[in-house]
Amino acid sequence: MRIAVTGSIATDHLMTFEGRFADQLIADQLTQVSLSFLVDELEVRRGGVAANISFGLGCLGLNPILVGAVGADFADYAAWLERHGVDTSGVHVSEMRHTARFVCTTDRDHNQIASFYAGAMAEARNIELWPLAQRLGGIDLVVVGANDPEAMIRHSEECRVRGINFAADPSQQLARMEGPEVRSLVEGAQYLFANEYEKALTEQKTGWSDAEVLARVGARVTTLGAKGVRIDQAGEPSLHIPAAHVSEAVDPTGAGDAFRAGFLAALSWGLDLDRCAQVGNATAAHCLEVSGPQEYRLTKESLLERMARSYGDDAAAEVADRMS
Ligand SMILES: Nc1ncnc2c1ncn2[C@@H]1O[C@H](COP(=O)(O)OP(=O)(O)OP(=O)(O)O)[C@@H](O)[C@H]1O
Ligand SMILES: [Mg+2]
Repeated sequence: MRIAVTGSIATDHLMTFEGRFADQLIADQLTQVSLSFLVDELEVRRGGVAANISFGLGCLGLNPILVGAVGADFADYAAWLERHGVDTSGVHVSEMRHTARFVCTTDRDHNQIASFYAGAMAEARNIELWPLAQRLGGIDLVVVGANDPEAMIRHSEECRVRGINFAADPSQQLARMEGPEVRSLVEGAQYLFANEYEKALTEQKTGWSDAEVLARVGARVTTLGAKGVRIDQAGEPSLHIPAAHVSEAVDPTGAGDAFRAGFLAALSWGLDLDRCAQVGNATAAHCLEVSGPQEYRLTKESLLERMARSYGDDAAAEVADRMS
């Protein structure tokens, strides 16, 4: 199964300042702020939803096609993704702008000053999926992840027009989009991914009820944090799949993306939806135990071990059987 993952590709630059921002902000001088904080730590983390999902799929032995827009600074990141089984040939490299970047400084009281530079991401709207599909001899599923809003709308539209299956995963961009736009992301999706908050926001923005959303998608996959995941399909009883065993949840960042990677990999192995959710949960568990969305080590063995521990030996055996 050929999976193309569209969405953001970005890095997070996280700094920690040992002092307090408040000590340097002078109440009656706020019209002329020019501050510099001497920071001790700089952590650069690879991220962006499309890159995160692709990374997980690559670790699970698939060869997903990453689709998004970056800057000339992407070379190192591309090499990392390629080493983990990701095909980056569908990535557009901007001539003008840098790769999207989140820069955040946190002080000792956990106050944060952050900026997000979308940069090259705005050029994702110019990417066409059809030429890519032709070059690859077809695409079986396109993930439409959080991205430049116009790109998200275009990718969904292109999938509908060309009859390509797609999974809608608008996540954090929902907040920035209006009702008609959100409707166009959801309509006709084979899978709709969201957490509980995003599910509620989707209903609020579209004006569609729970059932009306469900009537427009093949299956709705709602992640519930530590409570696992729920899968709904019109006219069928809901499935609830408990979370996988986690030794210590260190950092939730990227768990949702790791879940999607596991779920989609299992889908490509021909497993049932409840098993796909288990594989998603087991993949997310790997991510939760480390800091950062692409820092986990995921192998066939580690996945099977987690499956057996969380869902029993039969579940693990079935996955082992289907994984190439
Ligand atoms: N505390 C936890 N224990 C076990 N599994 C968890 C826990 N938190 C999250 N998960 C796993 O990660 C999946 C996604 O989590 P969640 O529903 O919080 O997504 P999210 O809000 O989109 O997260 P994010 O956007 O921060 O990655 C869950 O379905 C579950 O499998
Ligand atoms: Mg999320």
